[in-house]
Amino acid sequence: MTTPIYDFTGKFALVTGATGGMGRAITAALGAAGATVMATDIADRGDLPGAAAFTSADVSDPDQVAALVASTVERFGGLHFAVNAAAIEFETVPLADCSDDDFDRMMNVNTRGAFLCMKHEIAAMLTAGGGSIVNIASTNSVRPQHDQPAYTASKHAVLGLTRSAALDYARRGIRVNAICPGAIDTPMLRTAMERRGRDADDVAHRLSPLGRFGRPDEIAAAVLWLCSDASSFTTGHALAIDGGMLAS
Ligand SMILES: NC(=O)c1ccc[n+]([C@@H]2O[C@H](COP(=O)([O-])OP(=O)(O)OC[C@H]3O[C@@H](n4cnc5c(N)ncnc54)[C@H](O)[C@@H]3O)[C@@H](O)[C@H]2O)c1
Repeated sequence: MTTPIYDFTGKFALVTGATGGMGRAITAALGAAGATVMATDIADRGDLPGAAAFTSADVSDPDQVAALVASTVERFGGLHFAVNAAAIEFETVPLADCSDDDFDRMMNVNTRGAFLCMKHEIAAMLTAGGGSIVNIASTNSVRPQHDQPAYTASKHAVLGLTRSAALDYARRGIRVNAICPGAIDTPMLRTAMERRGRDADDVAHRLSPLGRFGRPDEIAAAVLWLCSDASSFTTGHALAIDGGMLAS
C-alpha cells in the first residue's frame, strides 16, 4: 500500500535482508519511488520486485560485506541510501540458559552485521557527498520481551551504533536513523510464534494497542521518509512503528 510520493530517480540504494518480509517490501517501495536498488541477502533471490540487481552475501562476513558495497558502488556509481534489515531471531530461553554459541551467533549477524554494513556504507556515502542510513532495530532495542536475552542485547547495540554514527557523521552529510518495528507480519514473526506455540490473535492483541500485526509496507513507508529530504532534520532517531506497543 506504499504510495510512491517520493522521487528517488538517480539515487542508489542498498537493502540487506532483502528477501525477508520487511526487506522485500522496502526493496519494492524504494524501486517504485525510482531508486536503483541493490538487494542482498544470504538466502536465494527468488522474485524480488523493485531490485535492479541482487548479490548474495553474509552480513557477518567482513570480506563479503566489503565486496558487496564495492560492487554496488562500481555497478551503480555511488551509494545514497542503505537499509540494514538482515537479522536472525531464534531464542526461547532466559539468559542463564542461553548458550555461548547462540549468543555469539546472534551478535555476529545482528550487531556485527550492522556494524560491518554501516562501516562500508558510510565510506561509500562520504565519497558520494552524503546519504541516509536506516537500520531496522526493534522495540526490543528499548524494551525487551521475555526470553530473548541475546536478541535484545543485539538490538540495543544496533541502536547504539545508529546514535554513535549519527553523531560522528552529522556534519558530513550522512543521516543515520533506526526504525523500531513492533510485531510485523513476516516469516520471522510467524516462525517465532510457531516455535513458542503462540496464537497469532493473542500475540497481536497483547503486543499492539491497535490489535493487529503491522504490515511490512508500513515499515517501508517510514524507510522512504527517512531516506528522503522530508526528514532532513532527523538523525540519530529511533522511530517506533509498533501499533502503540511502546506507549502501553
Ligand atoms: N517481524 C517482526 O515482528 C520484527 C520486529 C522487530 C524487529 N524486526 C527486525 O526487522 C528486520 C527484518 O526482519 P523480518 O521480520 O523481515 O525477518 P525475515 O526473517 O523475514 O527477514 C530477515 C532476512 O535477513 C536475512 N539474513 C539472515 N541472516 C543473514 C546474514 N547472515 N546475512 C545476510 N542476510 C541474512 C534472512 O535470510 C532474511 O531474508 C530484522 O532486523 C528483524 O530483527 C522484526
